[in-house]
Amino acid sequence: MCKCEGKGDTMNIYLIGFMGVGKSTVARLLSKRLDYELIDTDHEIELDEGMPVREIFKLEGEEYFRGLEAYLIHKIAGQDRTVVSCGGGIIKSEDNIKAMLGSGYVILLEASPEVIYDRLKDDNTRPLLQKNPGLEGVRKLMKEREEFYNKAYTHKVDANRAPEQVAEDIINIVGEFH
Ligand code: S3P
Repeated sequence: MCKCEGKGDTMNIYLIGFMGVGKSTVARLLSKRLDYELIDTDHEIELDEGMPVREIFKLEGEEYFRGLEAYLIHKIAGQDRTVVSCGGGIIKSEDNIKAMLGSGYVILLEASPEVIYDRLKDDNTRPLLQKNPGLEGVRKLMKEREEFYNKAYTHKVDANRAPEQVAEDIINIVGEFH
């Protein structure tokens, strides 16, 4: 049963999930296919702050970043027909989860720690992975996040596959309820 029933006229698609599951790529594909506006929360925050997420964490700290994220997601919740690629930690706030569930479908992209580690092993843009390195770091953070992701999603998809296949699944989910 879709948790977004009774949400009124607002219909966004929020992609949530751990770093490296492919949210940004899938969001781009969906926005083209559905002709929805595209917002990538990390990218939007970087534009507003004039620096990469990594620098925001370093100079201002994680809490400051979470504040920007919360402000942005509440603003987006007032929009319609937007595909949102959400930073992996957006679900750490109950208020953010409420704002998303009240304004659209919240799709959890899930991939195995091995797949994620393989995709991100040479990435140095994610401060939390710098602090928790290696496959063990990915496993540890994923475990900590599990309960939050499980509270937040309306639907989930297997993101161990190519982004095109993931996008296709989401089109089918959204089409069912649209
Ligand atoms: C974070 C995920 C990142 C970014 C920041 C924190 C997290 O976004 O928002 O580094 O807490 O999981 P992606 O999920 O797009 O990598």
